[in-house]
Amino acid sequence: MEKVRLQKFMADAGVASRRKSEQLIAEGHVVVNGKTVREMGIKVDHHDKIEVDGMPLHSEKKRYILLYKPRGVISAVKDDKGRKVVTDLLEDDVEERVYPIGRLDYDTSGLLLLTNDGEFANQLMHPRYHVDKTYVAKVQGFLSIEEIQKLEHGMKLKDYKTSPAKVHIMSKDTKKNTSLVKIVIHEGHNHQVKNMFAAVGHPVEKLAREKYGFLTLDGLVSGKYRNLTRLEVAQLKERR
Ligand code: URA
Repeated sequence: MEKVRLQKFMADAGVASRRKSEQLIAEGHVVVNGKTVREMGIKVDHHDKIEVDGMPLHSEKKRYILLYKPRGVISAVKDDKGRKVVTDLLEDDVEERVYPIGRLDYDTSGLLLLTNDGEFANQLMHPRYHVDKTYVAKVQGFLSIEEIQKLEHGMKLKDYKTSPAKVHIMSKDTKKNTSLVKIVIHEGHNHQVKNMFAAVGHPVEKLAREKYGFLTLDGLVSGKYRNLTRLEVAQLKERR
């Protein structure tokens, strides 16, 4: 591993963003090989012993995992109520402490990325990144043209306005009075898709995320995962 700036090393290890890591260094929280470091220029690699507030930093191999999350699993690494979490689905081949990038609701299935690369996770979650997320929602009733336009143009929800979305009606079930709708958004507010459909009077009964940017669930069954390829990671990183 090539030496990198201390603040990048810290961000990569998931301590905090680069800027916050610089602050921690300047404030004297960081010790490298037994010496408190306050200046920014210093470069380190995994041979150096780095501590933040006395806690040793382990530089792990970077992992980038694409999981097909089933319904009934929490997008977290632990749950106070003892419910199943996404990292419970990982097998012994994943020794690194990965965590989900953003989250899917307990009852939402689909594509979820996990990583131990803090900087990568921060980048992808930043609204500036505009990663398109494609969902398929089974909603109550049938949407009118006006309702579709509202979803597409951006709408006022409780405390924010949504960005424009793409909406496509895939099918309608007249017996069950439900519609299957594909919706593409690039934001990631809590329960955003459910709140958008509820706001136009069509509550979501079932939700799945089919795509994250160019990534799909192809080749995976629910509950299984794969590593992202180097190319996929590079392509996601390029989206600055
Ligand atoms: N929007 C939601 O409402 N739920 C999810 O899990 C993801 C997006």
